[in-house]
Amino acid sequence: MSDSLNNRGLWGSKIGFIAAATGSAIGLGNIWRFPYLAGENGGAAFVLVYLFCVLLLGFPIMLAEVSIGRSTRKNPVGAFKTLAPNSKWKYIGGLSVLTGFAILTFYSVVAGYTLGYIFKTLFGSFNNIQNAQQSKLIFNDFVSDPYLVFICLTLFLLLNGVIVYKGIEEGIEKWSKGLMPILFILLILLVIRSLTLEGASSGLKFYIKPDFSKINASTVMNALGQAFFSLSLGMGVMITYGSYLSKKDNLVTSVAYVCIFDTLIAFISGLAIFPALFAMGLSPDQGPSLVFVVIPSIFSSIPGGTYFGTGFFVLLSIAALTSTISLLEVSVSYIIEEWKWSREKATAAAVIFTFIVAVPSALSGGIVQFFTKLPFYAGDFLSFMSTLFGSYSLTIGSFFVAVFVGWWWGVHLASEEITNGNPHFKVRILWNILIKYFSPIAVFLILLNLIKSSFF
Ligand code: PHE
Repeated sequence: MSDSLNNRGLWGSKIGFIAAATGSAIGLGNIWRFPYLAGENGGAAFVLVYLFCVLLLGFPIMLAEVSIGRSTRKNPVGAFKTLAPNSKWKYIGGLSVLTGFAILTFYSVVAGYTLGYIFKTLFGSFNNIQNAQQSKLIFNDFVSDPYLVFICLTLFLLLNGVIVYKGIEEGIEKWSKGLMPILFILLILLVIRSLTLEGASSGLKFYIKPDFSKINASTVMNALGQAFFSLSLGMGVMITYGSYLSKKDNLVTSVAYVCIFDTLIAFISGLAIFPALFAMGLSPDQGPSLVFVVIPSIFSSIPGGTYFGTGFFVLLSIAALTSTISLLEVSVSYIIEEWKWSREKATAAAVIFTFIVAVPSALSGGIVQFFTKLPFYAGDFLSFMSTLFGSYSLTIGSFFVAVFVGWWWGVHLASEEITNGNPHFKVRILWNILIKYFSPIAVFLILLNLIKSSFF
């Protein structure tokens, strides 16, 4: 056992990894991002493509990442350096770290909104609203108020820093194990309320009855990017978290649980949002404000809504926190291992730098016009970051992981790593084919199609 292994530690149990990895996977991506992307990309058609992406690409690539991590017990850059010494692969590790960092910057801004919404609901901002339009105005006021936005962002980042600085295993995992089920129950309650609103059925139809004519290059790209985003792939989280796994753990079943839970929560969030959205006469392509507009409107129409609403945003903030911890941990473990800094210094530096780079995203909700309406992109700076890093960069990272495991490291050695803790590895042949041929080719074609459709 190497020193670094001793210092880095392992998860307490298989559940430890599943809890942390599910905590990373389930976050704003499921409840905030998935519904608005589905809304902008044709509803059910998007959902269908998304499910295929999780099954055929997300699952095999997550298994690949986790096996890289467990086999090397390193951060993403160190892992590529170990498996492919003196090669350019370490830059792919570097791209992962950069992507994780970039995602953290805009993600924290939205997570700050969820923190702010805890207080907004608690203090009754939504008690007297009559329609979703009013709720939209409240959201617009909130995101264009520099004090609120920056206070919330700072609070959220500090919280994040404290937890990562202290080490994550004891506190946050235990929390997420207890709180995730409550989030689940609250979501189910929301679904029931949403489905029983008058006019809900057209929303349900939009969400589950696919119109295949809506599927085009950008639907597929968005669904794929979202699948990788939601599963926390393509940017080193699963390599890092896999590196804390014991050789006795069964990687295939652990990864399967993470994929199933994550997809379930995303799907259920859509079931809560779309019926209510249509019932309230809003159009589904609201973009990033969707959850912040629709959810408070639903709560304002039920008895005890203030408390449900507050509880909902508390849990959403926690879901966001368990994701940002994993994002921050990627940068921090990289700095500690590659630059040999202490955890304290690494965490402080990463948090401060994240804050600085988050500023334009924080200003993009109406505070500074330039960032709110970018001259070179149809949308604000936050959406721009979300597309660039949360979709494209992740996808490129995942492509290289597949090529690396399929061809460089080789499916043979990777499979051997996976048989530790899972001697029978029943889906071995299928996984080998998926990771060696299907994943790289499919992801490459999707990227190519996207480039073609954006430039020609
Ligand atoms: N998967 C997280 C979510 O769905 C976001 C995330 C992306 C976390 C990438 C880590 C890495 O909210």
